[in-house]
Amino acid sequence: MSMKPKPNSKFSNLFTFLVLLSFLIVVVRCSDVAVEGNEAGSEGDLDDLEQLLAVDEQLQEERPEQQSEAETVSKAQRIVVELNGDNTKRLIDGNEYVMVLGYAPWCARSAELMPRFAEAATGLKEFGSSVLMAKIDGERYSKVASQLEIKGFPTLLLFVNGSSQPYTGGFNSEEIVIWVQKKTGVRTIKLDTVDKASGFMKKHHTFILGLFENSEASSGCDEFVKAASLDNEIQFVETSSSDVAKLLFPELKTNNVFVGLVKTEAERYTAYDGPCQAEKILEFLNSNKFPLVTKLTESNTVRVYSSPVKLQVMVFSKTDDFENLAQSLEDIARKFISKLMLIYIDISNENLAMPFLTLFGIEDAKKTIVAAFDNNNLKSKFLLESDPSPSNIEEFCSGLAHGTVSPYYKSEPIPENQNSSVVAVVGRTFDELVLKSQENVILEVHTPWCVNCEALSKQVEKLSKHFKGFENLVFARIDASANEHPKLEVDDYPTILLYKTGEKENPLKLSTKSSAKEMAVFINGELKPKDHSTKDEL
Ligand SMILES: *[C@@H]1O[C@H](CO)[C@@H](O)[C@H](O)[C@H]1NC(C)=O
Ligand SMILES: *[C@@H]1O[C@H](CO)[C@@H](O)[C@H](O)[C@H]1NC(C)=O
Repeated sequence: MSMKPKPNSKFSNLFTFLVLLSFLIVVVRCSDVAVEGNEAGSEGDLDDLEQLLAVDEQLQEERPEQQSEAETVSKAQRIVVELNGDNTKRLIDGNEYVMVLGYAPWCARSAELMPRFAEAATGLKEFGSSVLMAKIDGERYSKVASQLEIKGFPTLLLFVNGSSQPYTGGFNSEEIVIWVQKKTGVRTIKLDTVDKASGFMKKHHTFILGLFENSEASSGCDEFVKAASLDNEIQFVETSSSDVAKLLFPELKTNNVFVGLVKTEAERYTAYDGPCQAEKILEFLNSNKFPLVTKLTESNTVRVYSSPVKLQVMVFSKTDDFENLAQSLEDIARKFISKLMLIYIDISNENLAMPFLTLFGIEDAKKTIVAAFDNNNLKSKFLLESDPSPSNIEEFCSGLAHGTVSPYYKSEPIPENQNSSVVAVVGRTFDELVLKSQENVILEVHTPWCVNCEALSKQVEKLSKHFKGFENLVFARIDASANEHPKLEVDDYPTILLYKTGEKENPLKLSTKSSAKEMAVFINGELKPKDHSTKDEL
């Protein structure tokens, strides 16, 4: 049981939140296109799709017309089969492994995924995989799609002997191939000749290599194979030939047992020097599989958020600014490998950047922003508030790694509150005006978008006039979309809280359904306890 990989047990609030976020990105993009059904942009997408379908058909026609049934099946395995109302049940029940892509013609994300899926189908065919790669137009065959439990687009499902499991891999063709291979029982691939290895290298750039004596007899390293079956992302390659190993891993200095990771980025070759234990090999992989600085894209979000490296430092910047910083960021990342992960997000990609910038209240940021999240705790977010120079970023990272950076709470600038009957409170003045104030405070917590906020604001305004001159009572208001405070824990808007002097830690909640009159009665009751004998005084 000790072989259980750690990463998967670390899902947390933030992870769920971020997965939801990336899911929303997908859905929003798809339905956006749908709504604009008749506009030019959407026709462009359809054209793209037609072209993709044409490519698939062209692939289908590469083979001569006259073929036996066996050839038809083999052709179907090489390319992507289009499922419809007639063939779906037969194909899914009749094949041990069927990988299904549910798409919608209007969904741009579907259109992006289709060529990668087709490429993966070809790659799998080359590996001799027995999986049948199929796709279904979920809009045209909506009934079949819903029977397959395809609920959004794009959806990937693997059917094993007719029962489906969700896809959990990455979204480029190589990642799809690896995931499918692993789920269909092909845990490692064996490369015995230099020819095979050079063919492999043309298509695969990220993999972990194991050089073992006599891997043919699969007595090489059972733990390596075990690690391969516990990981869903990385191609595991076995060889017993040191020539093959040297081709794949040119920095190899030994002819003995060896394990090393090959990647495309700066740290291209990383040798493993631990014991041959599955758990240790996986730890090594998890700490090293990402590039030094990972660029966040729409297709790798889930993979990035679920990384076992929980502290994630995000650099939001324009491409040009990032290029200037890239080298320094890599140097910083190298110092904190396995402690924190450096992620780059193109600030001009609104889909990706905006949800994060919103969390910091800096939606209109144009210059480089450095922020961080602790994957274990949604409430912990951090912001580098000084100039994002390499040395400041490094100091920030070091502080995060040592747990000495204070979490960030967003706040609007401190407003002027002259003569207003309802005082505007922001994140930064919450302590002073609410918690530490000597007065009783009625606080209206609102957001700009909530349905009943405006009506309630008017009611509070009225109340404040009614209570004008009432001793020790202040009416206040805070916009919770732009202001946070660790002690302000409200999820429902609008909310009205009464912070009584001496009991500031436990504010009372007023029913927002009450009329102004009922509220006035309540406030009187609370603040003039002598008039109401039912109220205990401690
Ligand atoms: C699928 O069913 C066949 C026939 O019953 C069986 O031999 C095979 O092991 C099954 N495959 C899996 C992965 O369960
Ligand atoms: C605030 O109120 C006082 C007295 O009611 C008045 O003299 C003053 O002009 C007001 N200031 C502002 C900024 O409205």
